[in-house]
Amino acid sequence: MTAEETLARIAHEIAVCQKCALHEARKKPVPGEGPADAEVMLIGEAPGFHENEQGRPFVGAAGKFLEQLLEQAGLTRAEVFIANVVKCRPPGNRDPQPEELDACDEYLQAQIAALNPSIIVTLGRFSMNKFFPDAKISAVHGQMQKMGARFVIPMFHPAAALHQPALRPSILTDFAKLPEQLQEARRALGRKSPPERQKITSAPEEKPKQLNLF
Ligand code: URA
Ligand code: SF4
Repeated sequence: MTAEETLARIAHEIAVCQKCALHEARKKPVPGEGPADAEVMLIGEAPGFHENEQGRPFVGAAGKFLEQLLEQAGLTRAEVFIANVVKCRPPGNRDPQPEELDACDEYLQAQIAALNPSIIVTLGRFSMNKFFPDAKISAVHGQMQKMGARFVIPMFHPAAALHQPALRPSILTDFAKLPEQLQEARRALGRKSPPERQKITSAPEEKPKQLNLF
């Protein structure tokens, strides 16, 4: 099975999953999205209102901000994989509960294994805690750590930075370091940057002119 097929199979399993109570109010599951050969995987917390409506991660205000942060790092949304630690929306956007985090973990781990990204950026503490259970985000944010065959960089959650202006400079600085960290990760892992192909295929296509109007 190719990585793409594996990711599709995982998304299908999520769509019919009833392993935790979050499936009850789920409108659309949000498995995550992005190319199967993404070098960078971003892991957020949980779908919110808009994500639950659309079945896509980070499509609300935090998503807009995340896109700006990625752009600042020379990356586009189309070339990274974006997922969450839980795939169904917690009612009222409450925190995911330990049993929900545990139940959903197998999907996240399967996605990580299929993607094999060079860098995982964790957004917020629930995501960070998957890799660094005892870390304090205020102490470790922006610091890239080697974890087995990849690197993990904990960052603040973009929604937190939107609501707490004091965090904004930190998240901006952390994302600004990402291009350099990506180079460092590539060197350390002996990986080349993916072919320009990705950028070419994600570029917006020029709309055909509607000549019939003339
Ligand atoms: N916040 C998250 O953590 N994930 C989303 O998908 C949207 C907002
Ligand atoms: Fe299944 Fe995860 Fe949704 Fe819970 S949150 S129902 S474990 S897919």
